[in-house]
This record gives sequence, C-alpha cells and structure tokens, in this order.
Amino acid sequence: MANLVVVGTQWGDEGKGKFVDILSEQAHTIVRFQGGHNAGHTIKVSNTTYKLSLLPSGIIRSDKTAVIGNGVVLDPWELLKEVRLIESMGVKISPERLIIADNIPLILPYHRELDLDREKEAGNNKIGTTGRGIGPAYEDKVGRRAIRTGDLRNEEHLRARLKIALKHHNKLRAYPVQEDWLFEHIMDIAKDVIQYIGPVWQYLHDAMTGNQDILFEGAQGSMLDVDWGTYPYVTSSNTLAGMASIGTGVPHNKIPNVLGITKAYTTRVGEGPMETELFDEVGEHLATVGKEKGTVTGRGRRCGWFDAPLVKKTCMLNGVTGIALTKIDVLDELGTIKIYNGEGYEEHEGWLSSTFGITQYDDLPELAKKYISRIEELVGVEIVLISTGPDREETITLKDPFK
Ligand code: IMP
Repeated sequence: MANLVVVGTQWGDEGKGKFVDILSEQAHTIVRFQGGHNAGHTIKVSNTTYKLSLLPSGIIRSDKTAVIGNGVVLDPWELLKEVRLIESMGVKISPERLIIADNIPLILPYHRELDLDREKEAGNNKIGTTGRGIGPAYEDKVGRRAIRTGDLRNEEHLRARLKIALKHHNKLRAYPVQEDWLFEHIMDIAKDVIQYIGPVWQYLHDAMTGNQDILFEGAQGSMLDVDWGTYPYVTSSNTLAGMASIGTGVPHNKIPNVLGITKAYTTRVGEGPMETELFDEVGEHLATVGKEKGTVTGRGRRCGWFDAPLVKKTCMLNGVTGIALTKIDVLDELGTIKIYNGEGYEEHEGWLSSTFGITQYDDLPELAKKYISRIEELVGVEIVLISTGPDREETITLKDPFK
C-alpha cells in the first residue's frame, strides 16, 4: 500500500489541483479531508479547464472514486451546483463514484451571512476570508451545534438539531432565521445529497484491504492552518498532512507519503503577514505572468520571493517526503531572482530563456537547475516533480511520489 497525501507548503494556490489530477491516475480513490468550497483547484486537460472548489479533483476521471471526508465542511447547495456543472462538461457523477461521509458539518446560509457580516464589521482587522461561511461552520462543529450530513436522513432529528443551532445563531443576527423556512429549504435538496452519503471510513478501510492506493487531496496551504499558520490570518481548518487521518478515518500510520506542492516563488491571498512580499514591478510581473488571481474569489494574489525557512518549517510539520516545485516558468524573464534564506536575500542569476513545457530535467537551462538545487538544499527535501506549465504533460518527473 502506498497512500499519499498532497498538501500545499505555502499559503495555498501552489498548484495542488494539477498534481492531484496527475497522481489520481495511479490511485483508486481520491479524498478531500478538510476545508470546504473556499478551495480552488484548477485542472487543465487538453482544451478543457475544470475549476473545482469542493469535489475531489479525481472526479474528472471516470474510473475513479471521489470521496469527501468528515474533516470538510460542506455547503449542500454548492455541492449540487458543482456536480451539475461538472456533469454539464461531460463528466458522469453517480453515487458509486462520489461518496460523502455521514458526519460532515454542513455550511448553511447563516454561516455565509455571519462570515460576511463579521468581515464587514472588522474593518481594517478583517481576515480577508473567501466569504463562504467556512469559519462559522467550523465554529459550530466544535460548538457541537452543527447540522451534519447524516442529520438529513431523519426529518424529526433535523428539526431538533435546527432548533439548537438557531437558538445560537438568531442571537447573533439582525433578523432571525425562520426555522420552517430553513427546514423546507434544506429538505428541497436533502434527497439529492443523501444519495451520496455513506460510511466513508468503512469504504476507505475496505479499499485498503483490497490493496488500493488512496490519494488524499489537501486544500489551502500549511501557512493557513488554524494551529500552525499565521494566526489569526488563517483558515479555520487544519491544513497539514496529519489532518488527512482525522478528516477521513484512515489511521495516520497508513499514510506514509507526503507530497508538498511548492511554488517557485511565494503568493498569498487575503490579509496577514508575508515576509517576502514585493510591492514593485517584479511583484507585478510575477502576478501577471503567473496569472495570480484567486480561483474562488478572483482577488489578486500578493506575490513575493521564495521564502526558504518558511517552506523548510512547513515541510517538517507535514513530514513532506518529496516536493513538487511549480510555476518555475513564471521566473523565465527575470534577470535576477532572489531567495530569502532566513538571514537575508541571496541573488541568483536568471536563466532568461523559456522553460515552459519542458518535460526532461536535462533540457532545463543550467541556471534554472542551479536555482532548483538551491531550493532543495535550503529546504532539505528532495524535489521529485517540477511543473513547467498548467497542462498534465508540462511536467518533469524525477521520482514517483507514491514510492
Ligand atoms: P476562509 O477559509 O474563507 O475563512 O479564509 C481565511 C483565509 O484563508 C483567507 O486569507 C483566504 O484568502 C484564505 N484561503 C482560503 N482558502 C484558500 C485557498 O484555497 N487558497 C488560498 N487562500 C485561501
């Protein structure tokens, strides 16, 4: 068995979607284990671009099973919207191929409203959330008042749970949520969601017994982890590899491989500290060439130089066993490229030639190889994959991350 978890080692948007898509060819099942539809995973296959927020990236391969684990928070309306959208692009989704845990906390309309209200009220102290209700939904989970996927199966039980949740939420709101309205609103879609619900943990254990490899798909990035990130400018879930276990029911010692997706420079969406941020034309160049716009919110990403101690630390926290270095081609036109090494910036001569689409390591310019080796040296983890463009094929494979 060679289960693998894919995580972002920076602030998200490292290009996880592309690698999860590539690696899902080798896996039987692809599992989301944290976050919600705040994630934005872009996958380009030939001329089609799929933008997924909630569904595991493996869903676009018709012979794979996609699983959403209990560590996720799930907006059922958004789920169905995404299912319909992907189906309209020619991908068939059935309950045999999409399995959703029965203990996932739901994101309900009042979570989104609370998220947006709080951000508005916070003024300069805002977090810069995606406004999807993620934080308030996780609060309800630990507050033990969440409505969970399994609750949709029993109307009476759902009513009782809604009463408890609304008692809390209506105190926080300018106008109350009507219980009857919300109940009907949920029941409108309950059946469509219920068809996908099942005992995910059992399914995954059976898959492992059958010697099938599982790919765990992280969302956001390590520096957005609620414990280990740049708190309070973080998301509300644990984004580190360890969460793959808690968020699915697969024991941690069954997930030996951790692929850390790492961008060749740094980006961040939303507020909060970013040591190597650039406010000059180089930052703008990275943003333009790298098309650094949030998949979910369309907001511009802040750009900066590679922060080596940051990635070294997140690799240690995640237990990264191999790095996939992405977007190296975005640096192609820069005469000087800097790396923050913890003490200061070291300057590297740019290669000033195109690396776009290169598939063999030996075809890379010598100066690009030098830059890549220096990152490897500073971070202390082997680089096993290099991405030279958004397509599946635009990839240099040095080692199989499943092994
Ligand atoms: P929330 O997850 O919507 O609560 O947002 C909290 C912080 O996480 C904000 O800074 C968001 O920009 C950031 N964030 C959430 N999801 C993603 C993602 O998928 N990529 C990058 N940043 C994200």
